Amino acid sequence: MESYTIHDYDVLVIGAGGAGLRAAIAAIEQGAKVGVVTKSLLGKAHTVMAEGGMAAAMGNVRPEDNWKVHFRDTLKGGGMLNNWKMVENYTKEAPDRVRELEQWGAVFDRTPDGRINQRNFGGHSYPRLAHVGDRTGLELIRTLQDHAVKMGIHAHMETTIYRLLTDAGRVVGALGFNRQTGEFLVFRAKAVVLATGGLGRIYQITSNSWECTGDGFSLASMVGADLIDMEFIQFHPTGMVWPPSVMGILVTEGVRGEGGVLKNSEGKRFMFDNVPERYKGEFAETEEEAERWLQGDRSARRPPELLTRDVVARAIRKEVNEGRGSPHGGAYLDIASRRPADYIKKKLPSMYHQFMKLGNLDITKEPMEVGPTCHYVMGGVRVDPDTQATNVPGLYAAGEVAGGLHGANRLGGNSLSDLVVFGRRAGMAAAEFAAKQTAPYQVDEAQVRAYIAEALEPFNNPHGENPFALMKELRATMQKNAGIMREESELKAQLEILANLRKRAWNTSVSGSRAYNPGWHTALDMRLMVEISEAVVLAALARKESRGGHARLDYPDPDPSFARINHIIRRSSDGTLTVVAEPLPEMPDELRKVAEAKDLKELSEKVGA
Ligand code: FUM
Repeated sequence: MESYTIHDYDVLVIGAGGAGLRAAIAAIEQGAKVGVVTKSLLGKAHTVMAEGGMAAAMGNVRPEDNWKVHFRDTLKGGGMLNNWKMVENYTKEAPDRVRELEQWGAVFDRTPDGRINQRNFGGHSYPRLAHVGDRTGLELIRTLQDHAVKMGIHAHMETTIYRLLTDAGRVVGALGFNRQTGEFLVFRAKAVVLATGGLGRIYQITSNSWECTGDGFSLASMVGADLIDMEFIQFHPTGMVWPPSVMGILVTEGVRGEGGVLKNSEGKRFMFDNVPERYKGEFAETEEEAERWLQGDRSARRPPELLTRDVVARAIRKEVNEGRGSPHGGAYLDIASRRPADYIKKKLPSMYHQFMKLGNLDITKEPMEVGPTCHYVMGGVRVDPDTQATNVPGLYAAGEVAGGLHGANRLGGNSLSDLVVFGRRAGMAAAEFAAKQTAPYQVDEAQVRAYIAEALEPFNNPHGENPFALMKELRATMQKNAGIMREESELKAQLEILANLRKRAWNTSVSGSRAYNPGWHTALDMRLMVEISEAVVLAALARKESRGGHARLDYPDPDPSFARINHIIRRSSDGTLTVVAEPLPEMPDELRKVAEAKDLKELSEKVGA
């Protein structure tokens, strides 16, 4: 009989990125005993890779900015598929969450008159991203972690959750194991907050770190939680493309926010030719106008490099496909010829070092080569817009693992503030739920023992498959068949590949001990990764149109019949996933006027924003 250690909490938070830490702080503030589990070490969450800043309509650089403009930008960028109530909560609360971080010790860059500085990013009408050079995520985590530790979180580091535990349809904890020792751990909890981040590692080229294997989506779906809009995957336009060992690593949008421009192999600034109809009139038409806007001229319009990520990523791909790409299959991102070296080193220190160390390239002297990289998933676990509760009692989700806020495409910078706005809401609601649970509940020992036996199978299966080879196959085929451009035949082929990989993922073989055994970790990750990949592909097949992060070669345009449809993905007890089309919640008229304002002039005239 395998032994396991039991830990008891009111609220268990799975994940120690921005959303997890903010949820933990909120739950402790409500008096809950809180445990935080992280696959990695405290301070190393993937949140640190969000570089350019956190969006919040503070109006520090442009006083005209306010939550209504941010609301409109977010919905417009999201192809109007966002949950309007989440967007309202988010845009109204984000400035307070930034100020709160400052009170807790975050050292943001300042304007000349001493306020928190804000920078330009794609899809935002005004400079809106509070930032710390290009290390904003790192500062956010440092601040939240300091605060959470002072408040008394119990952290379980290097711990992977294998399954959520349920009793009579309610989540009552989780089973995990310590990666360092292989010891099994049972966390009994009255409420669980999933804050496990994204799924970028199901793709071959990604900016996501090793932890982002999509665990939370699969764990939630396996206990009956609905997923929403999993077809919407964001390919960030600018990842490194060279050398091959660093392909996919993020090149922050902050480079373009600070004035960097995209050029093809002919030296042409091609984004001027790629402004979609819905953004016509909002972007500069000449280089001179674009630069004036960056210098703060209110009569000018934004540079087209600051279009939304879906648009910029596809424009780069088009240049490459039509033979105008850079030598290693990307485009040139040039800030060297636009800004002085000192300025670049001050505003983009990590980019300077990243290219110097990894690519032997001085970005103050030469252009970078960049191309699309899988960065984010807009879809996720479906949650209540106020409490982040899922449809399974006792289970909450916040941050990238939760869906709804970003619709079909997320604006850069809207993630870091999402984490703190909704991490806080999830933590508060989970603690409140936990406080009400007075009736006894059971953690079923048989359930625990069955999951442990299942998790150990790869050690007892000498003729199974190599989990690393399976993982490589999954990532390569997802990249090829369900990547930045999709079509029916490839998506269908990918479904067959996934059905086959699913069987093989349950027939892997690993050797050695349970202590620090990457083969074993990969074998277990694979089971969850196949699940969530299937959800992505099924939803992508069902959406026969192109919108935001979902682009179909066979349906290249947005289709009005999908314009107000969310895809809900449900798992039945035999593991079958189905996609159900559901109409979006109705937006109140007042907010609809804000969302649908033709331009900022109309927004200001009609709704006083
Ligand atoms: O480009 C970036 O710095 C990424 C930020 C984000 O995804 O929000």
